[in-house]
Amino acid sequence: MDKLVIRGGNPLLGTVRISGAKNAALPCMAAALLTEEEVILENIPQVRDIETTRRLLSAMGAEVELGYGRAHHRTTIQARTLNAPQASYELVKTMRASTLVLGPLVARCGRAHVSLPGGCAIGARPIDLHIKGLERLGAKIATEHGYVEATATRLKGAEIVFDKITVTGTEDLVMAATLADGETVMQNCACEPEVADLADLLNKMGAKIEGAGTSIIRVKGVARLHGAKHRIIPDRIEAATFIIAGALTGGDINVTGCEPAHLTSLLQKLQEVGVKTTHASESIRVMGDTPHKAADVNTEEYPGFPTDMQAQYMALATQADGTSIVTENIFENRFMHALELVRMGANIKIEGRRAIVRGKTPLSAAAVLASDLRASASLVLAALVADGETIIDRVYHIDRGYEHIEEKLKGVGAEIRRIGEIFPKRRGANG
Ligand code: EPU
Repeated sequence: MDKLVIRGGNPLLGTVRISGAKNAALPCMAAALLTEEEVILENIPQVRDIETTRRLLSAMGAEVELGYGRAHHRTTIQARTLNAPQASYELVKTMRASTLVLGPLVARCGRAHVSLPGGCAIGARPIDLHIKGLERLGAKIATEHGYVEATATRLKGAEIVFDKITVTGTEDLVMAATLADGETVMQNCACEPEVADLADLLNKMGAKIEGAGTSIIRVKGVARLHGAKHRIIPDRIEAATFIIAGALTGGDINVTGCEPAHLTSLLQKLQEVGVKTTHASESIRVMGDTPHKAADVNTEEYPGFPTDMQAQYMALATQADGTSIVTENIFENRFMHALELVRMGANIKIEGRRAIVRGKTPLSAAAVLASDLRASASLVLAALVADGETIIDRVYHIDRGYEHIEEKLKGVGAEIRRIGEIFPKRRGANG
């Protein structure tokens, strides 16, 4: 299993380019199931979850080409026929977002057989709201042997009010509603830019969606969707992670190819902390050479402070002067990184949904364990300022959502390497 080895102490300097958003690319790939024509997606990040989605769609009978070489950030998907409209437990357990195929499959094929996701490192994360919404659209749902079996002759437009804001739940039902008979009005929808990006693609495919990116979305069902070409939005969480890396290391980096408008809550918080940033239309420069002071953070749905940045912010808070209270409101168990940060010398106390971070404490390198994608990013950040060489185990978590993180960090001056094979391949042994 790969590990990352990071020697802390270097201020990050230079330019880093941001990849396409994993959490926009995943629903957009699922949307390709809604048509038999070709869907071309550009700015696809090279991360493991994309490869998992390729396997998921291929197993149903779709042709999925993930480009290599010059075309390596593009995928072409053609779901001419879907002879196996299902998502197996094997795939759903490695990537919960596999449940995004539920809505498109019922809408297109009239049936879907999708594994229920089990427990998760960051919280319970059920999919009851996806299921309730599909029932409102007229699908018959049965759950058996750990699988959801959804059937419908044709879905029917309906009014849906989400009990709770859910990102993939909103996306799943928007996709389902595109091919329903009549109008669907959804309230209390997720406003994340990734939802709006998905709706942009769907509208290019011939859907009639209004209001995506706000809490009320209206979808006028159409009889069929066609092929389209679409460019995925930049990854705001990757951009935010590099911005914090620049601030934390006292560096000066230019984060390019990003969308500053998607990062307002983070940039405001950093201003409170005392981090200097400036931005142009597609880039943000961060200058970390000022003293940082503590500031409380509450995770919220977009446009609030993202839960996907809570762990990385906590690494920054360990190096700010004073006490920061970090409150996690979205997931009930998203503090696993705190315990590893404590092993590196941080002073963090967990009280239910709150983490009390007392700074500034020097961090010292240690062997640490990544528990989920964003937790691993937090450990990478802490390692960049720790004294000595940190070894982060289970980096497959980070590979799920950050494209070539060690190369990007190396490019701005970090001392980082990946170690993996205990018995390295002999030269020439494998071509
Ligand atoms: N929830 C329910 N029932 C449902 C669905 C959600 O109770 O049917 C609850 C969840 O348990 C959670 C809250 O609602 O407490 C919000 O969950 P949401 O459904 O919004 O999360 P998600 O759609 O499963 C997406 C991202 C996550 C991100 C969350 C919150 C994708 C593929 N995943 O997950 O990203 O943390 O929204 O913003 O878009 C990550 O990239 O590391 C990641 C975990």
